[in-house]
Amino acid sequence: MSDEELLRGRRTPLEIDPEEFRRIGHRLVDDIAGLLGSMRDRPLTSGEGPAQIRGLLGADRPMPEEGTDAGALVEEASALLLDHSLYNAHPRFFGYITAGAAPIGMLGDLLAAAVNPNLGSWTLSPMGTEMEAQSIRWICDLVGFPQGGDGVLVSGGNVANMLGFWAARAARTDWDVRKHGMRVEGARDLRVYGAVGTHTWIENAVDMAGMGAESIRWIDTDADGRILLGALRAAIDADLEVGGVPMMVIGTGGSVSTGVVDPLPALRELCDELGIWFHVDGAYGAFAAAAGSAPDELRGLALADSVALDPHKWLYAPLEAGCTLVRDPQALLAAFSYRPEYYHFAEDVQNYFEHGIQNSRGFRALKVWLILRQLGAAAYRRMLDEDIALARRFHAIAAAHPELEALTCHLSITTYRYVPADLAERSGEEDVGAYLNELNERVQDRLEKGGEAFVSNAVLDGAYALRMCIVNFRTGLEDVEALAEISVEAGRALDAEMRPAALR
Ligand SMILES: Cc1ncc(COP(=O)(O)O)c(C=O)c1O
Repeated sequence: MSDEELLRGRRTPLEIDPEEFRRIGHRLVDDIAGLLGSMRDRPLTSGEGPAQIRGLLGADRPMPEEGTDAGALVEEASALLLDHSLYNAHPRFFGYITAGAAPIGMLGDLLAAAVNPNLGSWTLSPMGTEMEAQSIRWICDLVGFPQGGDGVLVSGGNVANMLGFWAARAARTDWDVRKHGMRVEGARDLRVYGAVGTHTWIENAVDMAGMGAESIRWIDTDADGRILLGALRAAIDADLEVGGVPMMVIGTGGSVSTGVVDPLPALRELCDELGIWFHVDGAYGAFAAAAGSAPDELRGLALADSVALDPHKWLYAPLEAGCTLVRDPQALLAAFSYRPEYYHFAEDVQNYFEHGIQNSRGFRALKVWLILRQLGAAAYRRMLDEDIALARRFHAIAAAHPELEALTCHLSITTYRYVPADLAERSGEEDVGAYLNELNERVQDRLEKGGEAFVSNAVLDGAYALRMCIVNFRTGLEDVEALAEISVEAGRALDAEMRPAALR
């Protein structure tokens, strides 16, 4: 064929005819509906190791020179994924802080990809941009954050927090930090403050800002893991004395390990007194400010200069969706906006590329918007309260069980340990403590591969704890009851295998 013939009325192998698309799509939707319908009866994971997974995939195959029929390919991908994944949507998935995707969010992602608007600018995504702005306004209403500020959807909690950090840096430097960077003659050292246990995003942030990890002041906590105000004050005073600039205080609204909430209103007062940016990391817990059963102090996030929160955690959205809110509508623009000459975008509308680090932006707002609309505020508040109630019920079940030790319980996270009944009185002894740590780590491993239930871990004062977190709208009371039994069964079996003679 001549070039002329190839290029005129061009048809590439990437095209799928509408009829064929419909057939492939219907089949895929049927497969997904089958997964949703059978989720509870399936093992949570296939438990296959890396060699098996790589074998199934044919991981070492070179890039094929010839293409594959689209229908066959989607069937292949669907079989690989539907039968060889770990399902965080399973009702007994309690690990980390990962929600199973709300079905309407799945449909939203499909529709978003079909229209494929670029939410960098209003011109390129008129409806999409307004849906994102509306979702952000609704999120503010839900958690009590004042309207009138600014907000943007991002990939997740790490980036949502970092945007707060960059906004703080732009606001708290008395030189033009975006122009001159950090190496300015006479510039004072910027310092950030957060409790020991603050999520690791802060280390990435100071690293990327060229401030270095030494600019973080890790503040001691009380026995529950809440930041100690006296210790915070002392650290700030010490920095001020040597000419440092306290740039930002981080309050956590649901810590990653135990879900504990810092005294947010008191942190606001301190920041007001000293003119410091107050940021709340609510990646996990901020949505719970809408729930009546959450601690009152969580609602102090409404007082923050910036808040990070994650729809892909406690709003049950499919990955990825994080969100940054700022009180001052100029704060994100002041940190991020550039207006290059190659963009012909109206200036009197929202152009989200100016509000963060992404230029081209996907339509993650659609799944958020759909979930908020499908639920409505009342049903959503009820679901948050139910998740919290279930974590509390699990804590009570563990506390009543002779072989489980109930540890912390905050928001929807409970930590606990398997402790053989005859060792319960001896857990303070060094060798017993070390054995219990090893035993519980193995319990976690066994659960992780067993496919009955999935938990993650926390380390509390040197003790290796199992950690269950409920941001899962499919989990019911029967599942938390089962988790206790599954943990005890695994603990008993492993104890019988592992217990050293000296501890028998
Ligand atoms: C308190 C807190 N901050 C930040 C993050 C990071 O969020 P993401 O994993 O969505 O980046 C997490 C994740 O669990 C978290 O719990």
